[in-house]
Amino acid sequence: MPNADSTKNKTYILAIESSCDDTAAAVLDNDKTLSNVVARQAVHEEYGGVVPELASRAHQQNIVPVVHQALKKAGITKEDLSAVAFTSGPGLMGSLLVGTSFAKSLAMGLDIPLIDVNHMQAHILAHFIDEEGYDKPKFPFLALTISGGHTQVVQVDSYFDMTILGQTLDDAVGEAFDKSAKILGLPYPGGPLIDKYAQSGNPKAFKFTKPKVDGLDFSFSGLKTAILYFYQKEVAADPDFVEKHRDDICASIQYTIINILMDKIKKAVKQTGIRQVAIGGGVSANSGIRKALKDAEAKYGWKTFVPKFEYTTDNAAMIGIVGYLKYKDENLQDSGYVETHARAQSRLKF
Ligand code: KG4
Ligand code: ZN
Repeated sequence: MPNADSTKNKTYILAIESSCDDTAAAVLDNDKTLSNVVARQAVHEEYGGVVPELASRAHQQNIVPVVHQALKKAGITKEDLSAVAFTSGPGLMGSLLVGTSFAKSLAMGLDIPLIDVNHMQAHILAHFIDEEGYDKPKFPFLALTISGGHTQVVQVDSYFDMTILGQTLDDAVGEAFDKSAKILGLPYPGGPLIDKYAQSGNPKAFKFTKPKVDGLDFSFSGLKTAILYFYQKEVAADPDFVEKHRDDICASIQYTIINILMDKIKKAVKQTGIRQVAIGGGVSANSGIRKALKDAEAKYGWKTFVPKFEYTTDNAAMIGIVGYLKYKDENLQDSGYVETHARAQSRLKF
């Protein structure tokens, strides 16, 4: 345990993330991760998607042990904490409430600051967690946030000055992965499984049309329908079609999705002249997008930033880094996510 002297120059942030189906807690010492604990909820697997009420109940069960474990792994006690950061949104209301109430009560009990964090900003600012050998992006850079709930191209001018240049008009890219997987009979979340099977398949075995969407916006619902019709037609002709061609189907779906993402990011680079590109969110764990980005770095001379695996899918360390950045500068505690997309003209605060 650290004694009073050794903790003098330390800023210990406890971070809590409970926006969807993962209960997570982390402790950061300034911008370094001391612990990053995630309790994944297996209860949703059989339903093919997250069941909100079951998620809230599982958060209720998990939150205390997860926080205890995060403090224990960090080697500190709750009395050493400088502040508590928590995800205030976006996310499932019942799930968010569990983390929010816990964080509020703890901060109040310990009489330390409580810092609210926007989940999507956190997926981007995870790139500023200090990791040995990891080069952080310099401002301005472009961020492609790809998760189960969002798909956005964001221009990042400083930690809290972010502009959404484009986003999905319907499904998020993670949903495209998960819903395609569900059609193929794979459990939730199907994204990692499509990624796994794609590695032994031929990405050009089957062709799916890419949607035509203006500007930097995305659309994935048409692709999902195209995959459903493809499945129905092929299975009607051969009931074992999926079994026989699983890897090729997964590789072809993944190839199409990655092409859609890469087309937009190339367009964003051209439009803004910014050649630094970072990815974040659960889908940034995908081996295909990670490779496509690194290939683009070599081909187009971009500088690209791919997060460590533990910071891709939902985690609390990313909430902790935002908490730390806000804690350091009180003025920032007020800042929000700037939305200039055509459909949202006013400045949004979270
Ligand atoms: O960021 P995240 O953990 O939660 C949200 O904020 O939504 O993202 C979860 C999404 C799920 O749709 C999941 O299938 C997808 O990330 N995902 C992947 C991979 N790992 C997670 N999609 C494709 N390939 C992966 N390796
Ligand atoms: Zn997320």
